[in-house]
Amino acid sequence: MSHADDHSDGKTRRDFLYYATAGAGAVTAGAAIWPLINQMNPSADVQALASIDVDVSGVQPGTQLTVQYLGKPVFIRRRTEEEIEAARSVDVSDLPDQGAENPNAPAGADAADENRSLDEEGEWLVMVGVCTHLGCVPLGDAGDFGGWFCPCHGSHYDTSGRIRRGPAPRNLPVPVATLDGDTLTLG
Ligand code: FES
Repeated sequence: MSHADDHSDGKTRRDFLYYATAGAGAVTAGAAIWPLINQMNPSADVQALASIDVDVSGVQPGTQLTVQYLGKPVFIRRRTEEEIEAARSVDVSDLPDQGAENPNAPAGADAADENRSLDEEGEWLVMVGVCTHLGCVPLGDAGDFGGWFCPCHGSHYDTSGRIRRGPAPRNLPVPVATLDGDTLTLG
């Protein structure tokens, strides 16, 4: 590498590569406790990232990518047809939290899966991955409803991220998000 290359816009490029790498590699691996202090005091550089783009072209059906956004993990799940069907066959009146918990949906929308998924077909589900009980990070592909399970105190979420059993009071919240081709934008 020449001396000139070494200095050509190196900082910006390195920063970009850092975020891209962090996003691609950060697949959920365990039920780490997400310290409450982290949620309440995001560092200045994290606060500055009001919006991030995530390339989701490599996410296969039945898997999820976890990225960090505004100091919290965000699950980006590409659901299988079975997961979508399971989520859409639930009667909303059976749910502990009957609100969509989704700022992208109309105000007052109920917790029907159609009001929580990002696209009409329901392939993409995006949620803040912090248990609504006391803040642990739930495990994917786990629990009695085939969605997420929080082992800290036993909260089961379904394939739409809705609380179904256990002490958590609310569905996993959906962040502001849009999808354009293979680019998912948070914020
Ligand atoms: S923090 Fe998840 S069940 Fe208590």
